[in-house]
Amino acid sequence: MNSNRTPTIGVFDSGFGGLTVLRALIQRLPQARFAFLGDTARLPYGSKSRRTIARYAAQSAQFLVQEQGAEFLIIACNTASALALDAIQDAVPVPVLGVIEPGATAARAASRTGDVLVIATDATVQSHAYAAACRAHGLRALEKACPLLVPLVEEGWTDHPVTEQVIRIYLDELNAEAAAAGLNPDTLVLGCTHYPLLRPLIEAAVPSGIRVIDSAESTAETAQRQFGESFALSAAGLDIVEPEIHCFASDSVEKFERLGSRFLDRAVGKVKLVDLGG
Ligand code: DGL
Repeated sequence: MNSNRTPTIGVFDSGFGGLTVLRALIQRLPQARFAFLGDTARLPYGSKSRRTIARYAAQSAQFLVQEQGAEFLIIACNTASALALDAIQDAVPVPVLGVIEPGATAARAASRTGDVLVIATDATVQSHAYAAACRAHGLRALEKACPLLVPLVEEGWTDHPVTEQVIRIYLDELNAEAAAAGLNPDTLVLGCTHYPLLRPLIEAAVPSGIRVIDSAESTAETAQRQFGESFALSAAGLDIVEPEIHCFASDSVEKFERLGSRFLDRAVGKVKLVDLGG
């Protein structure tokens, strides 16, 4: 690490949904240089096997470290965090932080009953990574795959009656499963990068008394705690006008530029196309 230059934080997602995590990171560590990679050519990860996800994610992590000089990595993708964190850690010589543990920490802070619901991709649910992380925090978690939601967000249908209906069906099923299991959930974890974009529809569809949380804020907080100190990064007392953000994608650069600003809440700028191999 060279303390005379701005440290680079690499942020990785299978697509551009992870920009919601980048948005939270910028607020906490505004003076870092950010390199964000969306592996849009190979999205979705959520329907693929652990082996494939691990290979794709390791290649992506290596790009951020070797080509972009990232000194630490945030794996914003829930699916890659759930299935490939070890493979990523083995592939790069820098500290790596995933979103599952911060998500479970946020659920612990939010839940009074100790029963939480998690919605995520198929692969994340099948890994039961959220259930395990929640259990370690003394929580009972019921997980449900909602595979139609990522394509709906990718289509830009974040406020569409079809999406609203799909969300209601999934959540009705989940609530019925929770009741059958004798759970009394008071917290719903959005265990996928894309779901925060659906938050208004999801909040309107959950029974009253259920808090909806996502891991972005909790992940940024953990990153600030773990990396901020070692890199002398702090949001305090700084008047940063524009953070330094470099975005890369393995495909669909125009779509990334068009839709990415919704996730990041600011213009994503020029997105560079990268070839990550097969
Ligand atoms: N980024 C993925 C996640 O958070 C969602 C999109 C995908 O399936 O690749 O799980």
